[in-house]
Amino acid sequence: MKDQAFNSIENFIHERSMLCFQGHKRQVLKSRLRERLARLDLPDFGAYLELLKISRREESALLDLVTTHETFFFRNPAQFRFLMEKIIPALEEERGQAVVRSWGGPVPVSPGSVMKLRVLCAGCSTGEEPYSVAMSLLETLRYPKAWDIEILAGDLSKSCIESAEAGYYEDERLKGLPADYLDRYTERRTGGVVVNDEVKRLVRFCPLNLGNIVNGEDFPCTGDGVAFDLIFCRNVMIYFSVETQQRLVDALFNHLAPGGYLFTGDAEALHIYDHDFRTVHDAGCLIYRKMGTREHGQAV
Ligand SMILES: C[S@@+](CC[C@H](N)C(=O)[O-])C[C@H]1O[C@@H](n2cnc3c(N)ncnc32)[C@H](O)[C@@H]1O
Repeated sequence: MKDQAFNSIENFIHERSMLCFQGHKRQVLKSRLRERLARLDLPDFGAYLELLKISRREESALLDLVTTHETFFFRNPAQFRFLMEKIIPALEEERGQAVVRSWGGPVPVSPGSVMKLRVLCAGCSTGEEPYSVAMSLLETLRYPKAWDIEILAGDLSKSCIESAEAGYYEDERLKGLPADYLDRYTERRTGGVVVNDEVKRLVRFCPLNLGNIVNGEDFPCTGDGVAFDLIFCRNVMIYFSVETQQRLVDALFNHLAPGGYLFTGDAEALHIYDHDFRTVHDAGCLIYRKMGTREHGQAV
């Protein structure tokens, strides 16, 4: 009975998040749950399961408890270097040329429709990743004001989203953020900094459950069928089963615009899946590209 209730809690978590606990992760889950029971003064897993069935608040606390939120600014610097040195300049050049070329044609395109940049940070934790992307764009784009930029950043954890929206980071969490970026993109507060409005304006935080995306739903807070130019999905897939990982890779491919890029975590190389991405070998780190009509044949 004891194990049955534990299994039911595990299923409950899986149904809501796709998180998968195998091997030692099961033991970690068990001990985290025991701590939670002690805190709530509940006698056993069965009692906790009953609470979960009636309390959305406890469901949210549980998902916070079982997810790992480790993150930091400019995590995996090689990816950000390639983004800033190669991808962003090439994108700006290509989009700018498309606008200029259209001036000679019968129907000039409006720059507003071309200079759009849609970025997704899936599993953004407390916000360091999307803010690093925003700072990279502001640093690198020659004409940032010409762009309509939106970085959609989502996470399963409500407390992470709240903290990300506040954009406050204690000093010990600023590892990875260069000193001159601190000056340009943050404001000092007691014991830490807050990300400034120029950066915050580019990022929209939303609750996001990748389990829903895998099951074919659209991303929240976007118009239907939006295609992203860049997707960061780093250090999240590792918590899913291989079957879910494969479905997630397929879903991300479908949500990426032709020519767009996918950034994965260091332990999330795509070679074990069946996919149509092209590895960006020049990058020397895990970046993948969806080839397609818009950029066909163009190398970055
Ligand atoms: C280890 S952090 C990675 C943060 C950031 N991407 C990075 O690489 O630094 C993993 C994040 O994925 C989130 N996560 C786990 N399962 C998720 C799901 N099903 N949908 C959305 N986010 C999820 C967790 O809440 C956590 O904040």
